[in-house]
Amino acid sequence: MRHLMSPLDLSVEELDNLLTLANDIESNPNHYAHACDGKKLATCFYEPSTRTRLSFESAMLNLGGSVLGFSSADSSSAAKGESVSDTIRVISCYADICAIRHPKEGAALVASLKSSIPVINAGDGGHQHPTQTLTDLLTIRSLKGRLNQLTIGLCGDLKFGRTAHSLIHALIRYPNVKFVLISPDELRIPSYIREDVLKKHNIPFTELERLEDAIPDLDILYMTRVQKERFFNEEDYVRMKDFYILTKDKLKLASEDMLILHPLPRVNEISVEVDDDPRAVYFKQAQYGVYVRMALILTLLNWR
Ligand code: CP
Repeated sequence: MRHLMSPLDLSVEELDNLLTLANDIESNPNHYAHACDGKKLATCFYEPSTRTRLSFESAMLNLGGSVLGFSSADSSSAAKGESVSDTIRVISCYADICAIRHPKEGAALVASLKSSIPVINAGDGGHQHPTQTLTDLLTIRSLKGRLNQLTIGLCGDLKFGRTAHSLIHALIRYPNVKFVLISPDELRIPSYIREDVLKKHNIPFTELERLEDAIPDLDILYMTRVQKERFFNEEDYVRMKDFYILTKDKLKLASEDMLILHPLPRVNEISVEVDDDPRAVYFKQAQYGVYVRMALILTLLNWR
């Protein structure tokens, strides 16, 4: 039995196979419509979500399976003090696979240690969000045609933005990938990623504050929102929240084939006027999230 806690739980070969399966699902959905007949997915979400929870549910329904779960800690027995460990032992009796989101870093790992069904980390605090990374990789590979030879700008809240952390972990395994880390000083990438991931693996990266300085050189611009829920006080959030706003004017500095990704939800960091630009692929990215989660469910349930 396998779990998914981090994108690194999959080898590069397994990841490539999973993305290829996702592309085949996109092209031949009918072929997979009964692949999970009789199987159940539990979605245990202790934190709010629109895309991750609903795309998991959509994925399982597309595969012919069923879904059950809860969408907030308040609507589960966590509100009465039940631990994640006890909850997953119980969920293991009710479902065949579980996706869990929790505000505490490591909660999904704790669940996986007590689970008798595959557990998928659907976001653990400011740590990792591996299925968003699978979505991002599928988007980039499908629309750009490769995952190597890329200069990727990550912009916004790189301190708390778990999607940025997971994406860096995943992309350093591909040759000739460079990062431009664009953030205000207070929201720089955590030092463990700078030192233990980027420097340790000799990955070229620069850290900048001005988006305009970075944008002309990028193949991918990955925008992120400032993570309000991880701030200790409202005042700091309000000061930071509009630090970056991608506008049509700023996009004039970008190449014609640069792609703009965003894990969503968007707050203010991409002006809605950008949505019509052909380089803006963040809603297409959300669609890829369904295909890649279908591929992941099939993979973890050992579908043949
Ligand atoms: N991208 C993402 O994780 O969105 P949700 O928080 O809506 O699931």
